[in-house]
Amino acid sequence: LSQCSRGQTQTPSKPPIRGSTFYPSRNGVLELDLEARQSQIQLGGQRIEVLAYNNQIPGPRLEAKPGDRVRIRLQNNLSNPTNLHYHGLHIPPTDPADNVFLRVGRGEQVTYEFSIPPDHWGGLAYYHPHLHGYVADQVLGGLGGIFVVRGALDHIPEIQAAEEIFLFLKDFIVEPHQSMMGRMAGREGDLVTVNGQVNPAFSIPAGGLARLRLVNASNARFYRLSLEKHPFYLIATDGYPLSVPVELSELLLSPGERAEVLIQGTQELGQYRLLNLPYRRGRMGMMGRGRMGGMRGDRDSVAPQVLATLTYSGQVQPQSFPQRLIAVEALPDPTRVRQFVLNHGMAPGQGMVFLMNGKPFDPQRIDTEVVLNTIEDWEITNTGVMDHPFHLHTNPFQVIARNGQPTPYPAWKDTVLVPTGETVRIRIPFKDYPGKTVYHCHILDHEELGMMGTIEMR
Ligand code: C2O
Ligand code: CU
Ligand code: CU
Repeated sequence: LSQCSRGQTQTPSKPPIRGSTFYPSRNGVLELDLEARQSQIQLGGQRIEVLAYNNQIPGPRLEAKPGDRVRIRLQNNLSNPTNLHYHGLHIPPTDPADNVFLRVGRGEQVTYEFSIPPDHWGGLAYYHPHLHGYVADQVLGGLGGIFVVRGALDHIPEIQAAEEIFLFLKDFIVEPHQSMMGRMAGREGDLVTVNGQVNPAFSIPAGGLARLRLVNASNARFYRLSLEKHPFYLIATDGYPLSVPVELSELLLSPGERAEVLIQGTQELGQYRLLNLPYRRGRMGMMGRGRMGGMRGDRDSVAPQVLATLTYSGQVQPQSFPQRLIAVEALPDPTRVRQFVLNHGMAPGQGMVFLMNGKPFDPQRIDTEVVLNTIEDWEITNTGVMDHPFHLHTNPFQVIARNGQPTPYPAWKDTVLVPTGETVRIRIPFKDYPGKTVYHCHILDHEELGMMGTIEMR
């Protein structure tokens, strides 16, 4: 951890590392110092201001196993308060673990300490700041990193043999602009990066499998991914393995979502570009016109963007796909069904706000009280003009149905896209941890503008 004066913005003496330091747990303990501060990086030929952990974009890649102890000392050298949230980890939503209400003031230090439960799934989690009022700016600025839990999926021989590639998808704003319209739409950066680089190259042995582990770490940008007509085999959704691989021609990742796919190159040597295809997630100012309406924001990209280039080089024995992954159990019927409506509206004295069941966020209020050891269905309806990725902390869920149609296979998720005009039904087992936490839209500007509710588990 570099020593520097508290709460001051200064130019770092050494340039930030592109890509991140790897911190695995040792002897059952993952321990590290994380310093959040302002920094600068060279991106697409320009020097841009970023916010970074340990001067790295993305932040250090952390890795632990079920049963491990985690101790993270967060030093806040930003000019604003912050905190840390462990998105996708099943840990207590209370101090000193994953309390999103905790405020770490500028210049202050706090130590997070928790255990990864012994029965935790193996998968991809994502740590990022979560102090209401600062989340969107801090994530947009660059704060965030990967937290891997190694588990059963990692022990499947075909998966072990695959080339593991982490892809942390994040856009950056080159010219800061602060318009209210931009916040309502959800701000997207002009420069799209993977692991802090524009169009990085990855090499994979021809014939071999690659395991792409993708995180959408953007404030608002969606990624509709394709590999130039080359199929993806989905093996995990968010941080949770599937029962069997599922073939996909493209993959949509909304903010906060993660996914893991296997890919196989042809025997010939070749290059594939990982593309971000256009996607219309809706915009403000098109009220009542539907998604195909006329007043399309001019920032909707129409041409595919190249995110990364995968090169198959050097021949290996063709590897096979795993037939089975980790069984996902179907859940019993719920004890209770709740309704949630996502929309926006005018609030007296606040102007435009984003709403969860007609109300903007109030940290003092408890919106949803649940009883531990029960299963609930939540029916989430988006009556607004923009898509909203809905995220619940602490407890993952299964998507049961979309617009009344049952989903084809059971899968665990912690963030689910609820497109405009649609209804998604999720089933959530509330098991162990009591405490208060939140659910919200993971377009973080929408969360800041009110689209968040509180949940108390007891
Ligand atoms: Cu990834 Cu409540 O956040
Ligand atoms: Cu979260
Ligand atoms: Cu939203």
